[in-house]
Amino acid sequence: MHNIALAGCGNVGTALLEILHEKQTELKDNYGFDFKVTMITDLMKGTVVDPSGLDLGRILDAIHSSRSFDGLPQTKGTFGELLEKSHATMLAEATPTNLKTGEPGLTHIREALSRGINVTTTNKGPISVAFDELNRTARECGAKLRYEGVVMSGTPLLRMLQDGMSGASVKKIEGILNGTTNFILTKMEKGATYPDALEEATSLGYAEADPSGDVEGWDAAVKLSILAKIIFGKDIPVSEIECHGITAVTQEKIKEAGDAGYSVKLIAGISVLPQGLSLYVMPKEIPFSHPLASIGGATNAVTITTDNLGEVTLIGPGAGRRETGQALLCDLISMK
Ligand code: HSE
Repeated sequence: MHNIALAGCGNVGTALLEILHEKQTELKDNYGFDFKVTMITDLMKGTVVDPSGLDLGRILDAIHSSRSFDGLPQTKGTFGELLEKSHATMLAEATPTNLKTGEPGLTHIREALSRGINVTTTNKGPISVAFDELNRTARECGAKLRYEGVVMSGTPLLRMLQDGMSGASVKKIEGILNGTTNFILTKMEKGATYPDALEEATSLGYAEADPSGDVEGWDAAVKLSILAKIIFGKDIPVSEIECHGITAVTQEKIKEAGDAGYSVKLIAGISVLPQGLSLYVMPKEIPFSHPLASIGGATNAVTITTDNLGEVTLIGPGAGRRETGQALLCDLISMK
């Protein structure tokens, strides 16, 4: 029996709880994944802990009716104390991303790994700022660390690169790696204003709590930096990536490009050059005939150029509450 702790019960954390509640029997029957959720902590909603298993139905009712854990018995303590009280064996970390400090997720992940608790996270901050440290702690403490959801949400890009393409050399990765900006550009192409499109992306749970990282391109740049580390073993600080977001892309520019047969997309890429890796994030005009031009909404698409396979393109959700909850679920099952 696995005891799951959840840190961060916003859009993604709540979606994970919904999936776990709906699929509990299916997950046990099909994957032998037998679990209970023993702790949920959220900065706004509070903390509930029960090592014998929380009543997910009751908790989801409370979240859906009052967006809080009001009426449920709450537990206090430091994060480490809560983990111990909950007898957690796995942590799903889904607190809001801070691309600069990685907090509070970084502390949560350190506390869990150092106690030998397996961790999955969708939080780009800690993975970006402390990749080596966290992997070392995991190794030293006999715990697993997974982070499929940090790039392309539940679309399994990292597994495809790390397992499915073992032995092939990657030469180039290029595509759409931010769901929010692709959603905004798609809406603007259809006539929406930038503020309205951003508001809709936020209400659908695509944008970060602070959407400036999305629209200024930093979210995609962090994803590139994580890919550079995972695939090429290179530390490329995000500050060294050429990064331009979509804040200067006006409706007029989109219309002009459309009239000329182009769609404006925020493209992120890594190329292997003789002098090293070259990384960039920038809006580009893509001809309508190119496959990336037809990728709309919060969908992501990335083409990986390799020696043995030529080009492989993966298209799928790049953001979204349930789609990102799926990334956590997939990691939890893989760590059982
Ligand atoms: N804000 C991110 C995006 C979420 O829009 O792509 C998924 O990483």
